[in-house]
Formats: sequence, C-alpha cells, structure tokens
Amino acid sequence: MQDLPTQRLEHTQDGLDRAAGLLRAGGLVAFPTETVYGLGADARDDRAVARIFEAKGRPSFNPLIVHVPSVAAAQGLVEWSDLADKAAAFWPGPLTIVLPRRKDAGLSRLVSAGMDTVAVRIPAAPVAQELLRVFGGPIAAPSANPSGQISPTRAEHVLDGLTGRIEAVLDAGRCDMGLESTILGLTGRPTLLRPGGVTLEALTDALGTRVAERRDSEQISAPGQLASHYAPRAVVRLNATEFDTGEARLGFGTMECDLNLSEHEDLTEAAANLFEFLHQLDATGAATIAVAPIPHVGLGVAINDRLSRAAAER
Ligand code: TXA
Ligand code: MG
Repeated sequence: MQDLPTQRLEHTQDGLDRAAGLLRAGGLVAFPTETVYGLGADARDDRAVARIFEAKGRPSFNPLIVHVPSVAAAQGLVEWSDLADKAAAFWPGPLTIVLPRRKDAGLSRLVSAGMDTVAVRIPAAPVAQELLRVFGGPIAAPSANPSGQISPTRAEHVLDGLTGRIEAVLDAGRCDMGLESTILGLTGRPTLLRPGGVTLEALTDALGTRVAERRDSEQISAPGQLASHYAPRAVVRLNATEFDTGEARLGFGTMECDLNLSEHEDLTEAAANLFEFLHQLDATGAATIAVAPIPHVGLGVAINDRLSRAAAER
C-alpha cells in the first residue's frame, strides 16, 4: 500500500467527480474543510475506513468524525435530540457532535472504533459541501496527517505526509481556520470533548444548559478507556491457538473457526472486520470469544491494541 500514484485534483466539477468516483471505489481522498484537510473514505465501507488507519499509521483505532451535508443526513446516522437540535445552530461549521449511533445507520463499525456513538459534522467550506453532495454519502475523515504530526491546512502538507498512501487530494487552497473542530459530546450530560473554534460559552448559551469540560486526564486520545467504549459481554481470550468447545472462535489465516478476520492474513481486511465480527460473536451468547494470534506488525499493532482492551475491560 506504499506506492499509490497520488493524484492532485482541482476544485472543478471534473475534480469533484473524480474525487467522488475514487471514494465510491473504496479509495482515500483528502479534502479541505474550513478547519483542516480531512482524509476521507466512504464511512459505510469497512475496508476503506480500515485503510484510513493504515495510511495514517495510527497505532490504535480512534473513532472518526463522519461528515455529512445536512441535518437530515445526520439524523439518518444518529439518535437526534432536542439538545442536538440546539447545537446544530453552529452547522455548517467547526462543531462536531457525538451522539448515539442509530442501529440502521449503515456505517462501518470501525468508524466508531466499536463504540455505540458517532461523531458527526457538517463542514462549512463550499468545496467540502460540494464533495459530500456529489458523492452522496457520509464521509469518514480524520485530519489528513500521518499519526502524531501536525494537521494539514494546505494540499502540499497532505502530499508531504501521505503521498503514495492515498489515491488523491482535492486541492482547494488553504483552510480558513487551521484549527480542528470543537467536539461536543451529547451522549450523556453535555461535555466539551475537544476545544475548538466554537467556544464553551457559545455552546452553553445555545444549549441553555451547562456544558462540562473534560479534564485532561480524561482525554479522548485513548478512546479505549472511555466508559462508553464497546466491551463485549463475553470474556475475550487472546492468542488462542486451540479452542475449547462452546467458545466463539475468531480466526486469522487458514484455520477452522466461526468467523475469520482474514483467511489470507491481510491485516487491512482483518481491521475492517474486527468490530463487526466481535459484535456478531458476542451476539451468539457464547461465554468466551477466543481470538487467534494477530501478527504485531502494521495494522496488526492497532488490532492487538483494541483486542487487549476488549480482553481487559472486565
Ligand atoms: O476539524 C476537524 O474536526 C477535522 C476535519 C477534517 O473535520 N477532523 C479531525 O479529525 O480533526 P481527527 O480524527 O483528527 O479528530 C477526531 C477526534 C478524535 O480525537 C476522536 O477521538 C474524536 O474526534 N471522536 C470521533 N468519534 C468520536 C466518538 N464517537 N466519541 C468520542 N470522540 C470521538
Ligand atoms: Mg487529528
């Protein structure tokens, strides 16, 4: 996955059509919003979303922001509420709202890193709006930088970091704000999860209720530690090379099992299947989910990080 020919697309109808076509084909397309450039993929496509983590070289699966063109589109993905309605006064704009995920959202589970919540945002930049409308679906996008590096505000920054790892960047010049969106959690009491352009005071005013500040020690950089993080009901047993009767068997590579993360030992495919398969095996009612060893290289590091959290959360 290292040496893709990364295209630089112009902000023209042709450029937008090509960008949407690449997204439809499961490709990765970086695009500008008013905050920073996002690294976009079809939010409904497990494999495309898995490729985001691969391209960024993320050591763990952080949940991703899902970009939509309208409130109606957001309402198809998350459980809407009165507070959400009030917060939506800042849309389109640099505000991301975390809400409970709808069962029929049709989103990749990897977008939520296995949690039952989704972060949604309607970006204001016209080019982002146009791309969303031409594409016609939700676009998952973290900032378009390699993990641990600075968020990009120009196509050049994206190309410096991700050339050879993504299909294209849609170049519409510099982002106006250069600072990532404010993230507001509305799954419990209203909480500011990340400060940004929309201030705490402005949110408090619009919501008509106090918005709590997340303390530094609770930062969402480690979403696996969030109380709301998906933990299977079943006990998770790792590095299983043999299985006991009654265990739900999650395999990898050539082996007999109930669900196989990737018969061909393809870690991108395994990442794409991970949360979906954990959910499916948990739903069987088995007391234990036994998971085959996953190689600790590339995306395997992120997969093992998530699996060890799932196994530890008791
Ligand atoms: O301005 C922005 O927000 C840019 C543009 C591209 O939209 N995106 C961005 O994405 O900054 P990223 O991945 O760099 O930051 C997303 C943050 C992460 O800290 C992630 O943990 C949090 O959003 N997040 C996403 N989904 C979440 C969820 N369901 N619950 C809690 N936090 C979530
Ligand atoms: Mg970022």
